Amino acid sequence: MDSIEIKQIRKIDEEPSLWKLLLSADPSKELIEQYLPASKIYVALLNRKIVGEYVLTTISSDVLELKNIAVDENYQHQGIGKQLILDAIHKAKEEGVKKIEVGTGKDTFQQSLYQKCGFQIIGIDKDFFKKHYKEEIIENGVTVTDMIRLAINL
Ligand code: COA
Repeated sequence: MDSIEIKQIRKIDEEPSLWKLLLSADPSKELIEQYLPASKIYVALLNRKIVGEYVLTTISSDVLELKNIAVDENYQHQGIGKQLILDAIHKAKEEGVKKIEVGTGKDTFQQSLYQKCGFQIIGIDKDFFKKHYKEEIIENGVTVTDMIRLAINL
């Protein structure tokens, strides 16, 4: 599939239409509601339509975490996810923090995607998804239980 170049990524306030995307990246509404107040939401716009989003959460004065990222399923596999991750790294640099972190399912394509964008593994949170999510998280037919933690020093 050809790639789509996103020309506009901008910060917006929380709005109901975002929840489908937010929940596709993180099925726990409770956890999303916990991190949104300390976060900024950015959306990718294509002809004024929101086709993707990411959430940058302040962890400390030096650290931001990419807590949530999703692309509308009709627009996936066209390079938008990668553009959003690279934009998040750029925004974190602009904010002047020292580090950007992310957590994702161990051994998933998402882990590889973050690594392709420059993230390096800093740790593993054993059984994170088992402990914090009611429903099983399944990626490519495999149940994901451990969270892999990655970061980039900026
Ligand atoms: N299986 C395997 N690899 C995949 C994949 C899949 N389902 N989807 C994307 N990739 C790979 C691509 O092959 C591409 O690799 P390349 O750069 O070597 O060609 C890379 O990931 C980037 O693909 P891209 O087109 O930029 O990603 P996307 O726009 O489809 O968005 C997600 C990626 C993760 C944001 C999107 O799949 C999504 O919204 N998923 C649901 C929510 C989610 O899982 N969020 C992440 C939580 S950690």
